[in-house]
Amino acid sequence: MEFILTEEQLAVKQAAREFAQQTLLPGVIERDTHMTYPTEQVRDMAEMGFLGMMVSPEYGGGGMDTLSYVLAMEELSKVDNSCSVIVSVNNSLVCWGLETYGNEEQKQKYLTKLCIGEWIGAFCLSEPEAGSDATSQRTTAIDMGDHYILNGTKNWITNGGSSKVHLVIAQTNIEKGHKGINAFIVETAWEGVEIGAKEDKLGIRSSDTHTVLYNDVKVPKENRIGEDGFGFKFAMKVLSGGRIGIAAQALGIASGAYELAVKYSLEREAFGRPIGQHQAVAFKLADMSTDIEAARLMVYRAAWMKDNGLDYTSGAAMAKLIASDVAMKHTVEAIQVHGGYGFVKEYHVERLMRDAKITQIYEGTSEIQKLVISRNILNGTLYEPLWMPCQS
Ligand code: CAA
Repeated sequence: MEFILTEEQLAVKQAAREFAQQTLLPGVIERDTHMTYPTEQVRDMAEMGFLGMMVSPEYGGGGMDTLSYVLAMEELSKVDNSCSVIVSVNNSLVCWGLETYGNEEQKQKYLTKLCIGEWIGAFCLSEPEAGSDATSQRTTAIDMGDHYILNGTKNWITNGGSSKVHLVIAQTNIEKGHKGINAFIVETAWEGVEIGAKEDKLGIRSSDTHTVLYNDVKVPKENRIGEDGFGFKFAMKVLSGGRIGIAAQALGIASGAYELAVKYSLEREAFGRPIGQHQAVAFKLADMSTDIEAARLMVYRAAWMKDNGLDYTSGAAMAKLIASDVAMKHTVEAIQVHGGYGFVKEYHVERLMRDAKITQIYEGTSEIQKLVISRNILNGTLYEPLWMPCQS
């Protein structure tokens, strides 16, 4: 077994770490407090190549593997999760979905703009009455011959206000159930696309999460992704990869809180010595470190499975499940280590705790991850360890 990162992967990790500390950290508290969209930071992330990391250089991307993307997500998420969710949605849902399932014309038209940050993408699946139950799409796209007419409302759309291109999942034939669902590339400048209310959220507050409405939007037929009826499978496949990105975000949140807790434990004194030298705190650090390492192995393994052409559906779901739980649990512990200081904004851990919660919800709740994992067990595909395919 190989646990050593390549020089390229290490360089990505280091660059992301420096960028997060030098460029994202200043102002992160103010942006969070006032829900200020990180316009300059997104431009800087585009310049750093963080918006299209896995996209082939042919289309303007970095041509990197999933593990490099995960390493960057982890470092960015130690500091600013509003920025890292923008990176995650643009990379693993929008760019990866387009590059993997789009046709050549679609890739030429959209990918470069998305990689260089000229356009930001959004993934529009959730609806007021279709969150976990994603097949219950009420947004409709009626086939008019050379175009579709799109109508409906999408909820909790990350990048909802700032994006220029949406991947929209819609029902084209209700009688066919999930086989009557399609995915479309929709430009927000088109007539009938309306950006609705911005959400005032517990965490990731400076990312812009909106309701989006489509009112008789004319979508050219060439903007459908894949064969007729492929939309639901497209959404599921894209979300499996997306879950690796969110697992990496959760890992970054947990690691960021842990690093702050260790630093504080060495600096803060109580009863005549640094608090880290009291067993009550030292054991918390040991538990944090152990759980985070376990989550890290799962997240890196999911990325490795994707990079090595293995079925990563369950691996991604497991990684997200464990990493988001570790993030929630240990951001709370990091606040406890900081005592009263942990409860105020200046020390960053309270923000990380608020950010952690969404990782148990978006791109599939923890309960949905358990559903995905358990269905694979019962289907008979999870008898063997995932990373060791049986050799007959
Ligand atoms: N890959 C490929 N195909 C898949 C698949 C996968 N991972 N998962 C399901 N499918 C296929 C099934 O094989 C089935 O196809 P067939 O009928 O041809 O066999 C079809 O899709 C329907 O699957 P199910 O019968 O399993 O459908 P279901 O309704 O019982 O449940 C679900 C599916 C797993 C619960 C799904 O609805 C789901 O993942 N829900 C959660 C949705 C979600 O993650 N939303 C996140 C919103 S996006 C977001 O948060 C982005 C953001 O802004 C940050």
